[in-house]
Amino acid sequence: MINEITDEDAVQATNDDASECKRCAVQLGYWTDPFISLFVKQTNRKAPEINRGYFARVKGIEVFINKFLKMSGEKSQIINLGSGFDTLYWKLRDAENSPQNFIELDFPSVTSRKCYHIKRHKQLIDRLNTEDGEISFSATDLHAANYHLMGIDLRNISELENKLAQAEVDFSLPTLFLAECVLVYVDKNATSTLLQWIGKKFADALFINYEQVNMKDKFGEVMLSNLRGRGCLLAGVEDCESLESQQKRFTINGWEGSNAWTMVEVYDSLLSSERTRIERIEMLDEQELLVQLLQHYCIAVAWKGPTFKNISIAQG
Ligand SMILES: C[S@@+](CC[C@H](N)C(=O)[O-])C[C@H]1O[C@@H](n2cnc3c(N)ncnc32)[C@H](O)[C@@H]1O
Repeated sequence: MINEITDEDAVQATNDDASECKRCAVQLGYWTDPFISLFVKQTNRKAPEINRGYFARVKGIEVFINKFLKMSGEKSQIINLGSGFDTLYWKLRDAENSPQNFIELDFPSVTSRKCYHIKRHKQLIDRLNTEDGEISFSATDLHAANYHLMGIDLRNISELENKLAQAEVDFSLPTLFLAECVLVYVDKNATSTLLQWIGKKFADALFINYEQVNMKDKFGEVMLSNLRGRGCLLAGVEDCESLESQQKRFTINGWEGSNAWTMVEVYDSLLSSERTRIERIEMLDEQELLVQLLQHYCIAVAWKGPTFKNISIAQG
């Protein structure tokens, strides 16, 4: 029991780390996000390799989100699993590219902090307001007309079902599930149950999963021992062995198809003008270190139904 609490604390703390890294890269000009600084105060400067890695992560995921929204239109939903302090809802709102419903789920201790920041900042709360909707808050949950933030343990499916009902989820709409560095912390059986449940309930769905890959080599072992050193058990790490295991995780759990790319491939697929721009922001001491880092993260996608079949990273 003591171990479990320690692991949960450590897992929740990974959100602070991710948010601080995003804040740092935004501040340096890697990409634009007017909202991340409302969730994270000043942070220490990170290594150039980390900033570039985060650039590839945010931009790579953005490619798929834009494809999803283009393919499904406004009548769609996004469900962000383990959303942490992600600012996607506000960025899409400013780009006038919001789906019909946007749901964020994380442990209650994380969502309560997110609720606190949203309440404190006019720039955040004003964007939740719509003409027809009221905003209701509890300590951990927030409901607005088309945005719902809720505290939950994703390993508990009946709780998930209950929370999604509160968020008025529509199982018939095209739905994007997003998990950014989340499933590695959830044990394999619980992830299987979650993926099977989603697969059964949603007819037309796309899943975008960003996380570690190639964890069985030397560099991967060092990454894992660093994370374990912070107290994370990494209960889902078995599926981070290779691109194949990442894809199989979906196809054995009822999803129709899956594809996966290392972040080297994702980075190379980004617009060359964007890469040239950000490569001028900071000099890299060691190009090799960046390549190794990018080889050890991936984006996997999986689909159910006809709309998103064979969706790929290629742009244009
Ligand atoms: C590395 S952080 C990533 C946060 C966000 N997705 C991002 O990329 O900025 C992982 C998040 O997953 C959440 N998480 C992990 N396991 C979870 C579970 N069983 N239930 C709910 N949230 C979970 C953590 O609390 C944390 O906020």
